[in-house]
Formats: sequence, C-alpha cells, structure tokens
Amino acid sequence: MMMKTKIGFLLFLVFVLSSKSISYAEPVLDADGEPLRTGVEYYAVTNDRGLSLSRSQGCPYNVILELTLQNYESPVTFRSLDPSVTTINTSVALNVVSVLGEDSNQCPDQSLAWKLSENPSTGIWDVTTGGAAGNPDASASQFQIVRLGPSYAFHFCPPGCSCTLLGASAGSVDPLEIRLSLSTSGGGLVFSFKKVNNNIFV
Ligand SMILES: *[C@@H]1O[C@H](CO)[C@@H](O)[C@H](O)[C@H]1NC(C)=O
Repeated sequence: MMMKTKIGFLLFLVFVLSSKSISYAEPVLDADGEPLRTGVEYYAVTNDRGLSLSRSQGCPYNVILELTLQNYESPVTFRSLDPSVTTINTSVALNVVSVLGEDSNQCPDQSLAWKLSENPSTGIWDVTTGGAAGNPDASASQFQIVRLGPSYAFHFCPPGCSCTLLGASAGSVDPLEIRLSLSTSGGGLVFSFKKVNNNIFV
C-alpha cells in the first residue's frame, strides 16, 4: 500500500517534470519520424484513438476522441502564426484546423479551426471548432505542441497567459463522448501524428 503510494507519487513527479522541463524548440516528428509540416493532413492519435467531430451540442463541433480504436476519421492541419514557417516545432504558437469534406460539413458557417469554449453546463473548457486560423489576436485559438515523454501533447497557450495541457472530459449531452478539453487534473493526453495516405491501415 505504502509502496504503491510512493510509486504513484514518483510517477506523478516524472510526469510533471517531463511536462515542464522541455521548453526549447525542437522539430515535432510524425509517426514516420518526419518533421510535421504546416498545411499537411495528419491524424492526431491518442492511445490508438483518432479524433472526430461531434454535433451533440449543435454547431460549432466539439472535438472528441473516436469511440473505436484505430478508427481515424477527422484529420487536422497545423498552421504556424508565422507565415514563413513550414515545419512545426515544439512550443511554437500554432492553430489547429480540422479537416472535413465540404459535403459532410454540417456547420458550414463556422471555421474548422480549433478554439477553447466554456461549456455552460459543466464549466469545462472544451475544444470546439469555430476558431480562427492565422490571426494572432484570436487568443482562444492558440495552441502549441509540447513533448510529453516519448510522445507529444497539446498545450493551450493564449498569449500572455500560462499554458494548460489538453486532456479528456466526458460529454455533457452524450455521456459516451470523450471530449478534448482543458485538463483540470494537470495531466495531458499524449498524441502521435500519422500522416494521411500513409498506409496506416496496413
Ligand atoms: C526549430 O527548432 C530547430 C532546433 O532547435 C531550429 O534550428 C529551427 O530554427 C526551429 N525552426 C523554427 C521555424 O522555429
């Protein structure tokens, strides 16, 4: 019992250290070891789950985790706030934009760029679409990718504020939904990035 608590505490320490200690910029690598590029479509995968878009709360979409493993549906692209940048480094301000075919987009009036929106019924800040890409003043849409152990995590980093990791929360309308949201525990979801059309189903 004592031992377990100690191990838990040590793991906690390692986790906190790993999320805090690396703040310098290094290229973010995709699952093939290639640098992440702006404008290229990737599946962001966490624990074998891809991301998807949910309309359980209407428009804009909530960004959620796929219910089934290895089901990759909705890719994302990354956009640096510095237009001259074509590869994504860790700890660099960026926008994340979900990709959805025009025919299947049921929220055509809103952008597919991610932003943080407070869910009025839970008080939790969820990742939704309807954000802005390429606008440095759109602080609710500013994210960074940071290294978390051997993988990566998303940081929400509005300018001038401290950063918070993105984690998961249960949906308030559909309880089966696992939403991407601001972490309230300090822990973050770890992600890898698989380039689309790269034989990922082999
Ligand atoms: C990314 O990081 C590498 C390594 O630290 C650095 O050489 C490069 O200039 C950085 N690129 C950008 C666009 O910040």
